[in-house]
Amino acid sequence: MKICPSVEEIRSAIAGFRAASESVGLVTTMGALHEGHLTLMRRARAAHDRVVATIFVNPTQFGEVADLAHYPSDDHRDIGLLRSEGIDALFLPTVETIYPPGDETIVETVHLANVLHGKVRPGHFRGVATVVARLFNICQADAAFFGEKDYQQLQVIRRMVRDLHFPIEVVGVPTVREEDGLAMSSRNVRLTPEDRAAAVVLNRSLTEAEAIVAAGTTVEALGEAIRATIKAEPRAILRAVDIVAAESLEPVSGPVTEKIAIMLSAEFGGVLLIDQREIEP
Ligand code: PAF
Repeated sequence: MKICPSVEEIRSAIAGFRAASESVGLVTTMGALHEGHLTLMRRARAAHDRVVATIFVNPTQFGEVADLAHYPSDDHRDIGLLRSEGIDALFLPTVETIYPPGDETIVETVHLANVLHGKVRPGHFRGVATVVARLFNICQADAAFFGEKDYQQLQVIRRMVRDLHFPIEVVGVPTVREEDGLAMSSRNVRLTPEDRAAAVVLNRSLTEAEAIVAAGTTVEALGEAIRATIKAEPRAILRAVDIVAAESLEPVSGPVTEKIAIMLSAEFGGVLLIDQREIEP
């Protein structure tokens, strides 16, 4: 695996692949790799000749400096994992490489970035769109793979790619879960054993929601049922239950008659976790 700290090095590695008519799949990450990331890489490997990964803890998507400071980071471990996955090239830039001095260009999906989780994390999705646009421009891959768990992020990136005519396919990959159903996340390592056990309530409430929708329900009754399940878990501090139209994230109400997305966030011992599911009636 070629490790490339500079734009020139990663571009030249990818130019080499292209010169051999090889297709390139891209997986962007902030490190702290877990099975969820490795699944994205395996999906990329199955569809492309070469897989390029990026590790960059993007400061512009963290609202609070404390959250950035707590973000787990272990490049040595991550590089070992990428090598064992057979990744072809790793882009490992510094903050100054991605955001050169005097930098002033941002990318924002003005509506999608500022609803739902965007309301409680102002600037977060602008930071995501800005860095992903830069990584796409630097790497020029054929396709990029993102987890469906970060549902709003995936919709923001899809919209940005569509609106700005980026020549790249965005592939959404279903959430990878632990055996008991907890969605994999870099944040899970910060949970105490008790909070780790309690956090499965998120997946449980989504599985119950599938049954409720299958039996016929309204958006309002579904929201109540999910809230009741999560509130019954004493270690959970519920932050949001959002039920919206899939992909557009537009508000919905009344009987569930179209594909919806349920987006949950809750804190367990101060660690904010999210989970989501698309459900078709
Ligand atoms: O999902 C992530 O890890 C990040 O938000 C991303 C897409 C790599 C942008 O920094």
